[in-house]
Amino acid sequence: MLILGIETSCDDTGVAILRDNEVLCELLSSQIKFHADYGGVIPEMAARKHLENLLPLVNIALSESKISGRELDLIAVTRGPGLMGALMVGVQTARALSQVWGVPLIGINHLEGHIFAGCEGLKPPFLSLIVSGGHTEIITVRDFGDYELLGQTRDDAAGEAFDKGAKILGLKYPGGPEIEKLARSGNSKAFNFPVPLKNSGLVEFSFSGLKTALLWQVKKFASSEELQANMNDLCASYQAAIIEALIAKIRLAVKLTGIHQVSISGGVSANGALREALRREKGFTISLPELKRCTDNAVMTALAGQNRYLREGITNSEVIADPSLHEI
Ligand SMILES: Nc1ncnc2c1ncn2[C@@H]1O[C@H](COP(=O)(O)OP(=O)(O)OP(=O)(O)O)[C@@H](O)[C@H]1O
Ligand SMILES: [Mg+2]
Repeated sequence: MLILGIETSCDDTGVAILRDNEVLCELLSSQIKFHADYGGVIPEMAARKHLENLLPLVNIALSESKISGRELDLIAVTRGPGLMGALMVGVQTARALSQVWGVPLIGINHLEGHIFAGCEGLKPPFLSLIVSGGHTEIITVRDFGDYELLGQTRDDAAGEAFDKGAKILGLKYPGGPEIEKLARSGNSKAFNFPVPLKNSGLVEFSFSGLKTALLWQVKKFASSEELQANMNDLCASYQAAIIEALIAKIRLAVKLTGIHQVSISGGVSANGALREALRREKGFTISLPELKRCTDNAVMTALAGQNRYLREGITNSEVIADPSLHEI
């Protein structure tokens, strides 16, 4: 089966062509450098950049895969959740290509995409922790297509905690990779940040209090030199609190469900310290995406699309962008 995957939910334009599970071509145009000056993603600019990049990427992917659009068996496009303008570019382009080439089109929930990024080789049931810029949640995958939300964040997502924490520290966007880099030469025990909801007994996360704790700590420094002198330790301690919160809730979810396979995906799953801490865990096995598939990409959209198509066929021929789509 030849599948074209298209992902434009936020600031990455992703295109991938798969033959069954084999990736023939995988392209990603990141917009980070255009948004970095503003400290976050500007929705209008994201949509315009997708518009510039998407069709050229589709053309390159087809020619690198040595196929024509009409040979495709399926187009899978992310239809939500995400930024409205950004999603619309992907969905409208996919609808047009589907019409022109006479190829079936399937709309995919971005979160189902993230699940598929992290679960290669896993057989359900398993737990899926999606930990990204917009989401932090644990889902029970009873089967593909049969998902139950076990719990999620009450406020900020973990990726948002990295991004907002970095902003407080005067670091670049996106904050996750910046904090990770500086944390490598810092002491994670130098500052005692709270691990939110650690012992609450609920599969729930909260990161806004942690962010405030960082802000208060930064305000205590008398000068920017003092902040700089403590920067690596701050990053290491802040990152450690986020990691501890994530791992505590995975342990709890494993205990509550009796499911011992866990997949982790989304941008924060690229964090080296988190990956190392997870590998040290006993009591459950973990499955992590390779680094390039942690953040948004179209391979995950194509895999989710293929799986859904083989399960259900086309259930809704009119694919519509939905920025607040939640139920997978
Ligand atoms: N090495 C890292 N360590 C920690 N966080 C990271 C790392 N790399 C990326 N991130 C974080 O991952 C997030 C981006 O991930 P992703 O692209 O999956 O999210 P998104 O698509 O913006 O959100 P969502 O998938 O929820 O809609 C950012 O918040 C970024 O700071
Ligand atoms: Mg994402």
